[in-house]
Amino acid sequence: MIYDGQNQVDSWEEVLLIYRSALRKVNTKLEILNDEFQHVHRYNPIEHMKSRIKTSESIVKKLKRKGYESTIENMVEHVDDIAGIRIICSFSSDIYQIAEMLVNQNDIKVLSIKDYIKNPKASGYKSYHMIITVPVFLSDKVVDTKVEIQIRTVAMDFWASLEHKIHYKFEGNAPEHIKEELVECARMVSDLDARMLSLNTEVQKLLDS
Ligand code: GTP
Ligand code: MG
Repeated sequence: MIYDGQNQVDSWEEVLLIYRSALRKVNTKLEILNDEFQHVHRYNPIEHMKSRIKTSESIVKKLKRKGYESTIENMVEHVDDIAGIRIICSFSSDIYQIAEMLVNQNDIKVLSIKDYIKNPKASGYKSYHMIITVPVFLSDKVVDTKVEIQIRTVAMDFWASLEHKIHYKFEGNAPEHIKEELVECARMVSDLDARMLSLNTEVQKLLDS
């Protein structure tokens, strides 16, 4: 993906600089959308955001798992989450609004979408994932750069953090009763999200009237 015509970006330092720049661009876009949303709807859809660059150890591990050699070209081509942003929203309806507002911007291209809210994973995991590209303008070229975006509610994030910790702790083989309890908690998360959303909708109507 990181090509500028003929010249392939060949140094890892430059690659990292480009990914960092892509994160900054997407972060700024999201901050602007959040400010505008606050202005129009009088609440912030974005509770907070976290962005990160994947460590080179994790990139190499992922390439190995996928059966690729550790070259810069393979990293850029086959690892879609070198740059990642997690957006934590107040309400489930905010997730789709944020995603739509972002992808409607004409410099953003969507490479893939995985909607684990409409189709949760067997573990109970819920979140809205997109791989997008954003153009990074350097002195002599424009580089379309991939960014993984994960959007979820505060409650989904709470669940995902604990599940991740448990998954890590048991190396993917958690006892059955713990897995079942997690699935049950995921159900409660969905219920909580639905009730908080309907409460907010009701209160918002009163405030608007
Ligand atoms: P990865 O190779 O892990 O990146 O998976 P993928 O390429 O199939 O993409 P997917 O959209 O399924 O997952 C991307 C990221 O979402 C992961 O790296 C995690 O951060 C998060 N994720 C996916 N599934 C789960 C899950 O079951 N539990 C938790 N806690 N996080 C998950
Ligand atoms: Mg990942």
